[in-house]
Amino acid sequence: MKIIRSVADFRQFSHQARSTGFVPTMGALHAGHQSLVERSMNDCELTVVSIFVNPTQFNNPDDLLAYPNTLEADTKLLQRLGVDVLFLPAYEELYADDFRYRVLEQGFSEQLCGRHRPGHFSGVLTVVMKLLNIVRPSAAYFGEKDYQQLDLIRDMVSSFFMEVDIIGCPTVRESDGLAMSSRNLNLDACARHRAARIHELLESSASDTEMTTALNSEGFDVDYIETHRGRRFVAASIDAKGRQVRLIDNVPISAEVH
Ligand code: PAJ
Repeated sequence: MKIIRSVADFRQFSHQARSTGFVPTMGALHAGHQSLVERSMNDCELTVVSIFVNPTQFNNPDDLLAYPNTLEADTKLLQRLGVDVLFLPAYEELYADDFRYRVLEQGFSEQLCGRHRPGHFSGVLTVVMKLLNIVRPSAAYFGEKDYQQLDLIRDMVSSFFMEVDIIGCPTVRESDGLAMSSRNLNLDACARHRAARIHELLESSASDTEMTTALNSEGFDVDYIETHRGRRFVAASIDAKGRQVRLIDNVPISAEVH
């Protein structure tokens, strides 16, 4: 596996691959990320993975500081999986403009997570556009776990006529249903156990209101539970060792439920 840290080196790395798959991540890799990598390796001749904890998408500085970093284990995992290139860009190079230029979406990005994390999706869309322009893949892989993000990236790529296929991949879950997430590393044993209720209630609640009442009564701090486009979306925080850990999830729901 080739490890590349600069845009110039990436550009120099000329390859003859007929198809390049790209999996952008923020590291602390788990089986959810792995599923995207495997899908890319299955579809494409060459697979590029990036790890970059993108500060512009963190509206809360404490959340950025608490974001887990497991670079050594991540590198080993990607090597074992047979990834061709690991791209580790530096903030100074990716944001040489100091974030003066940014992608702004003024519809769906203002709902759900966008309403609770102002500026979050501008940070996400901007870094994804930068990375796609550097890597120039034929396909890029994103998880349905972050469904709003996937939807906005698809829409951005179509709106700016970018030549890349955006492939959505199913959410990978722990055996008790909890959606895998790098943030799960910040849960203590008790919070980890309770966190499974989020998916259980997503599937079983008769309405968004019923689910909100249930999560509130179980001590979660609910940002939103809403149904859009046939999916129920949730964001809720749980206390873990005195720190709030924010978890998100979504599932498709049948028309008669909501
Ligand atoms: P990160 O949270 O590291 O996720 C990287 C990719 O893995 C995203 O497409 C995400 O949806 C997917 N993913 C995470 N958990 C998953 C799960 N349980 N099942 C399936 N896929 C899962 O999302 C980001 O990073 C960033 O916003 C990024 C797109 C890299 C831009 O900075």
